Amino acid sequence: MRIRKVFSGFLAMIVMGFLGQPAFAAEDSSTPSRTLIIYFSQPEEMKPDAVDGFSGASVLQKNTPETGSTQFVAQLIQKQTDGDLFRIETATPYPRQHDALLRVAEKEQQTSARPSLKTPLPDLSDYDTIYVGYPIWWYTMPMVIYSLFEQNDFAGKTVIPFTTHGGSRLADSLRQIARIQPQARLVTRALSVSRNDVSGPDIPAQVEQWVKQVQPQR
Ligand SMILES: Cc1cc2nc3c(=O)[nH]c(=O)nc-3n(C[C@H](O)[C@H](O)[C@H](O)COP(=O)(O)O)c2cc1C
Repeated sequence: MRIRKVFSGFLAMIVMGFLGQPAFAAEDSSTPSRTLIIYFSQPEEMKPDAVDGFSGASVLQKNTPETGSTQFVAQLIQKQTDGDLFRIETATPYPRQHDALLRVAEKEQQTSARPSLKTPLPDLSDYDTIYVGYPIWWYTMPMVIYSLFEQNDFAGKTVIPFTTHGGSRLADSLRQIARIQPQARLVTRALSVSRNDVSGPDIPAQVEQWVKQVQPQR
């Protein structure tokens, strides 16, 4: 009887090993979610009939007028992961008008600005998995995302980027994150959602599917 028990335990370990799962994964299943979703989003004020020159309206019709595209995706990820949500705001607010925002962001990039965060981040040691979302600004991450990665330690964390954009998808952001945080476990299967699609009916299911693929299992 005892031998049979030992043997079946041994067999289970072998099978789990073949399936690529850690043999004792089930023991950890009660661990609370240690997932954090950090995002930056800057909804703009646009007249409904305004011509979309470069950036375009990110204020979603299907949501509250204040919801930015990246914020919307961040909220979908939060619902699915049950993680904690943290919105990055800069100490100096950005203009809400499209053209003024374009100019300020361009200047920040030209001067390699590192805008300060208005509110400190939560303690990152409480988290293992950190989603980081941002719009693409001038073919890269907004400068405040550079501040985020340069001024905090993501070593050993699973970092999962997501962007919203007007055509540049992830731009150079994965390369930048890997360069600044070489000790992070960077998930390169990052999500990028076009601002033209973000309020479409398919997006919640697409985000859900993506989270299933990238969220580490405990
Ligand atoms: C200052 C600025 C620069 C932008 N530059 C780019 C760009 O280089 N490439 C791109 O695809 N989209 C660009 N966009 C479009 C935004 O990435 C897009 O509208 C995004 O969904 C906005 O997200 P948010 O509503 O969360 O702020 C830019 C938008 C702004 C405001």
